[in-house]
Amino acid sequence: MKLPFTKKAPVASAGAALDLRNYTAHNGAAISGAGPLEITTDAAQWSYAAAFRYRGAKKGSAGRILVRVKARVDEGRIGVAFVKDDLTEILGNDEERSPVDGDTTVEIVVDGAPDSGWVVIRNNAQGGVPSRCAIFGLEAENLPPAATPDISALTSADSSGAALFAVLREKWCEVPAGLTGRRKTADLLKLDDEKLAALWDESHRESTTGSGYAARGWYHELYADVLRGRKVLDVGSGFGLDGISFARAGARMTFLDIAPTNLDVLRRLCRILHIENADFVYLEDLRSIDRLPMDFDVIWCQGSMIHAPFEFVRGEARKLLEHLRARGRWIELAYPRERWEREGRLAFDRWGKHTDGAATPWAEWYDLARLRERLRPAEFDAVLSFNFHGNDFIWFDLVRRA
Ligand SMILES: C[S@@+](CC[C@H](N)C(=O)[O-])C[C@H]1O[C@@H](n2cnc3c(N)ncnc32)[C@H](O)[C@@H]1O
Repeated sequence: MKLPFTKKAPVASAGAALDLRNYTAHNGAAISGAGPLEITTDAAQWSYAAAFRYRGAKKGSAGRILVRVKARVDEGRIGVAFVKDDLTEILGNDEERSPVDGDTTVEIVVDGAPDSGWVVIRNNAQGGVPSRCAIFGLEAENLPPAATPDISALTSADSSGAALFAVLREKWCEVPAGLTGRRKTADLLKLDDEKLAALWDESHRESTTGSGYAARGWYHELYADVLRGRKVLDVGSGFGLDGISFARAGARMTFLDIAPTNLDVLRRLCRILHIENADFVYLEDLRSIDRLPMDFDVIWCQGSMIHAPFEFVRGEARKLLEHLRARGRWIELAYPRERWEREGRLAFDRWGKHTDGAATPWAEWYDLARLRERLRPAEFDAVLSFNFHGNDFIWFDLVRRA
């Protein structure tokens, strides 16, 4: 992000919390019109283009707010963020949109919003190209305070895990799309087939090629052949960046997820991409696991089983393992201890907000010893166990002892 400002247009509107005409331009962004406001950003990725002044209805009205931005992206990719007065600290979810979305509404919920701040439109496009968008409307409203669930208490609340899954679901109807982006699957379902497939392609390309090769690309290369013809359970399948790729390469995928809209997106993608031998299972609570077939060759957990307390996922893993054959593989991506230390050794109910965004209830680190402990009494040999991507992630590929 580059500062300082290059243009000011201080048109205040009395009483309004957010006003399309009350903005500050950054980094040589070209802004014209009054509504829609046509914005062309600077070329650098993440550089701010326009910051709209937010003021709470009255002093002391700080709390939980919903910001709604109505936009159309004509070129590149834009992000929307709620930022503190210092224009640096991002308090609200950073959503991105590209031309595939057409006319779109971006909603950001900000917990602990101060009396004032900025709603920032910035360039999220990679590769040093500017983005172009039109902003049609801006709204902000106060929301009642969110109940903050005690995740640890919910772990033992009921043996089916229904209460904990309900809390996790609130966050995880939003899935990773691309290298850094996240999208709500309810929004993806509004796209027509062509746009949904285009967005999947774009997200897949970004997360597996170029700088994405070191994130996902390398293991897609490695496992496409390994998984061909295998029966694979994708636990926490999200946007299917892995699962759909492996299905296309010939794996027989079962997609398991705690959010029904995530599975609806995958059902549609499979239909659009002519993937016929895939199954979809909604993980409403732990009893849903009983519906799975018994003979998976591989259980694949990419960043899913790190988002609930150890004790809880131990119970979930035990049930899943009833469905993995002897000599079957447990392949998992997690966050390593080194990352947790680097990011300040936060309590797990706070760390998730750093790793996966503001609404994330939980994130926990793993090493081989902790994963083995979680999978016990089942026993595994380690084919692979190593940190990668600058200690951002740890990869486990384990084979079940006969
Ligand atoms: C960080 S996303 C990863 C999505 C996908 N695997 C990927 O590689 O992009 C986490 C996914 O796991 C799911 N999830 C969260 N907690 C889970 C749990 N305890 N069991 C199974 N899935 C879970 C979420 O619904 C979400 O789809």
